[in-house]
Amino acid sequence: MISIRAMKRSDISEVYRIETLSFRSPWSKASLESELKNKLAHYLVAESDGKVIGYCGMWVLFEECHITNIAVDPAYRRAGVGKALLYAAMEVGDFFDATAMTLEVRETNRIAQDLYRKLDFEQQGFRKRYYPDTGEGAMLLWNVNIPRTVQNNACIRDTFALQWETFEQKRGDKA
Ligand SMILES: CC(C)(COP(=O)(O)OP(=O)(O)OC[C@H]1O[C@@H](n2cnc3c(N)ncnc32)[C@H](O)[C@@H]1OP(=O)(O)O)[C@@H](O)C(=O)NCCC(=O)NCCS
Repeated sequence: MISIRAMKRSDISEVYRIETLSFRSPWSKASLESELKNKLAHYLVAESDGKVIGYCGMWVLFEECHITNIAVDPAYRRAGVGKALLYAAMEVGDFFDATAMTLEVRETNRIAQDLYRKLDFEQQGFRKRYYPDTGEGAMLLWNVNIPRTVQNNACIRDTFALQWETFEQKRGDKA
């Protein structure tokens, strides 16, 4: 079973490696590092046998979670890791009292769109020529009821172990 936990500074190199393997315009190491200091940001990493194999980042702004990035090491794709990470992000968002989740996805990224649809995201808008590297448009997707998706997809919960300590600590700091 994979383990999912909050990203630490020592994970940055591995997360950056996956980022560069996954995106045409990857985030820099410095941007990933700065997210560790961002109080609104929550980054999750998935581990298998002690190796980071995927991650998902989000900002929680009041009742909304904004997914900033999600990627799985190409060698570990199609095994449910992406779905587990997105589901875990929803659980964490719910823990921070968010009720909705939103993200942008390239219009040609059918694989990611499929994943999002499976977790109840629906298109609510479109930004033309949003990505300067290719000129592709961005589909704006929303899940407006995270608690319902978490409840209706509880079987995903059995595919990973979520370590809550860092999130509990962050929530304590916020209170
Ligand atoms: C999108 C991504 C995170 C999915 O991760 P993953 O671990 O391979 O996904 P999962 O195994 O959990 O699959 C979840 C669903 O995604 C869809 N999917 C995943 N891989 C697919 C493929 N090769 N072909 C078609 N659908 C696919 C399926 O609907 C799948 O559900 P199923 O297993 O019930 O068929 C991964 O492909 C990735 O890192 N892509 C590059 C980065 C990226 O595009 N991120 C999204 C930016 S918006």
